[in-house]
Amino acid sequence: MTRAKVFVSRIIPEEGLARIRDACDARIWEDELPPPRDALLDAIKGCDGVLTLLTDRVDDAFLDAAGSQLKVVSNYAVGFDNIDVPALTARGIPAGNTPGVLTETTADLAFALLMAAARRIPEGDRYVRAGKWKTWGPLLLLGPDVHGASIGIVGFGRIGQAMAKRAAGFGMTVLYHDVQRADPAVESEHAATFLPLEELLPRSDFVSLHVNLTPATKGLINAETLTWMKPTAVLVNTSRGPVVDGPALADALRSGGIFAAGLDVTDPEPIPMESPLVGLDNCLIVPHIASASRATRGKMAEMAAANLLAGIAGERLPTPVNPEVYDRP
Ligand code: DGY
Repeated sequence: MTRAKVFVSRIIPEEGLARIRDACDARIWEDELPPPRDALLDAIKGCDGVLTLLTDRVDDAFLDAAGSQLKVVSNYAVGFDNIDVPALTARGIPAGNTPGVLTETTADLAFALLMAAARRIPEGDRYVRAGKWKTWGPLLLLGPDVHGASIGIVGFGRIGQAMAKRAAGFGMTVLYHDVQRADPAVESEHAATFLPLEELLPRSDFVSLHVNLTPATKGLINAETLTWMKPTAVLVNTSRGPVVDGPALADALRSGGIFAAGLDVTDPEPIPMESPLVGLDNCLIVPHIASASRATRGKMAEMAAANLLAGIAGERLPTPVNPEVYDRP
């Protein structure tokens, strides 16, 4: 019996890779860097399934290159802004993602960024290693308190709510904004108050972004909305880089428009070393690692493998992003 042909666009944890290797004729891209576009389009030719990462663009050109036998695209991420979902749906191809398993891990990192940017931990570390620590300084590296402050959570889905749970532990006042107001039960569980963005930003000591990247959220934090924030505010972004206008953020951080930022995501990724954000002491940047705990990345691999193998077998994906493919005649 011929085994399904699949391409996996990077080495993912064994929890998923082993199942894929066992079940399929799998080619795995083993480089640290993603396959260049040409190599990707070449590698997926004739594949029944492709396991993609958020660095791989999945669009009509990708689908044409793969061929009409392609049965599934399984994204190793909860976010799927790299996928042109309507293009897949139009061809009846399901796409899968990895929701749920990375919620708590991502919120952990978002809260770590919030604390580290507020309490200036990377700056303090650099200060010590540069040999500048001469004495206990009454005015040294002062920042805002986290406990008892207000947090504005923009995007109150799974990760936004997990952030609210952490904020509650620090006695913070939780404000949130989303396109839709949450159920009263969810609001009361988190003691969270819904506000329009223009009211939330001026009232928040901390602003944490947890929205999907869509045309409506691209540039949501921009030169204008940054002026609505407090000069003492800290901005945290673990969603997608383009949700924040980078040059506008750099201006706000430089001019004292806001106090600090903690970024897990940038636009583009990786952030160019010439970006003004890189040179700013009050901008903490880590390389898109919010879901990077060993356990969580392993669970993501299991889920991505399960979606891939289900799609190849012609079964419903456990977590499809376009379930509407199953409603087609
Ligand atoms: C995702 O899954 O969308 C994250 O950005 C990476 O884990």
